[in-house]
Amino acid sequence: MSLVLPFEPKDPSIETLVRLVKGDMERVNAAILARTGSDVAMIPEVANHLISSGGKRLRPMLTLASANLCGYAGEGHVTLAAAVEFMHTATLLHDDVVDESDMRRGKLAARKLWGNEASVLVGDFLLGQAFRMMVEVGSLTCLDILSGAACVIAEGEVMQLAAAKNMNTTEEQYLAIIRGKTAELFAAACEVGAVLAARPQAEQRACRDYGMDLGIAFQLVDDALDYGGSQDKLGKNLGDDFREGKITMPVLLAFQRGDEVEQAFWRTCLEKGEASDADLARAIALLHSRNAIADTVERARHYGGRAKAALDIFPDNPARAALAEAVDFCLSRAH
Ligand code: IPE
Ligand code: IPE
Ligand code: MG
Ligand code: MG
Repeated sequence: MSLVLPFEPKDPSIETLVRLVKGDMERVNAAILARTGSDVAMIPEVANHLISSGGKRLRPMLTLASANLCGYAGEGHVTLAAAVEFMHTATLLHDDVVDESDMRRGKLAARKLWGNEASVLVGDFLLGQAFRMMVEVGSLTCLDILSGAACVIAEGEVMQLAAAKNMNTTEEQYLAIIRGKTAELFAAACEVGAVLAARPQAEQRACRDYGMDLGIAFQLVDDALDYGGSQDKLGKNLGDDFREGKITMPVLLAFQRGDEVEQAFWRTCLEKGEASDADLARAIALLHSRNAIADTVERARHYGGRAKAALDIFPDNPARAALAEAVDFCLSRAH
């Protein structure tokens, strides 16, 4: 029995999940590399720039672990996991254009090297490849879930575009945005694992609910990290949300809690799009003085708790433990 000393707390890590799906994940990575090929040279160039920069591969691991949790014994989960990562990669290529971001996964964003047009078009190629892979697997239900997710992600991104610079955005609207742009893919990634295994509706639903709540928690933490994380660990520039006038949970909370002067500051910076580095520094100070970062993480913990509770209908086994630990990793992550 190992003894965990109180002064040496074990950081929640993604390692348990990585170990659980290691063999399958090697095949997912091989499938990913095999599908970026094209006679049009710029396509593998742009795609591989992003894919070889790493990334946590969290969503495909969720598909593999959900399939494992549900006792799936076939091969379709590997192909669907690769399709899920392709959908994610495509949304990142598109998202960096929409957000005018310069850094991704610790490197220059593809759009800075090849331009916005190439990023959008290669994203489209990857999305097309993702759908081909889903068709190969042959489950119309999985195709329905993942194609539905592609629509919902786009809806979330467009909702966010419409809400940008609008300080009247409510918490409810913000949650609808992050459910769409982020949590839906987590939910779909988990749900298809259970669907492939032909588990009863309640278990499919539980996997979906787990993914949805984990995805909400993940994005809440991401929004907190945009103001308080480490640029090196995160691999993206900090303060992007602020400069773009994105109304995220930390800002919503600080605005609600701010006095008149503070509210005027948020309005000027975010609504009018006039934000300097000094403004960002003041914003960060206000977020802390109004407890907005800590309370954003607190809300993430709430959704993380719900995600874990969704796993309760499954027997206690290594897949369930790995998925539960993935929640803690997402809540405490710095990258
Ligand atoms: C980035 O997702 C997009 C968000 C939903 C915030 P990840 O943080 O999972 O990105 P990679 O794949 O690890 O780079
Ligand atoms: C994350 O969007 C969701 C998608 C990529 C669709 P964000 O714009 O919030 O994430 P980062 O900060 O660029 O990773
Ligand atoms: Mg972005
Ligand atoms: Mg974005």
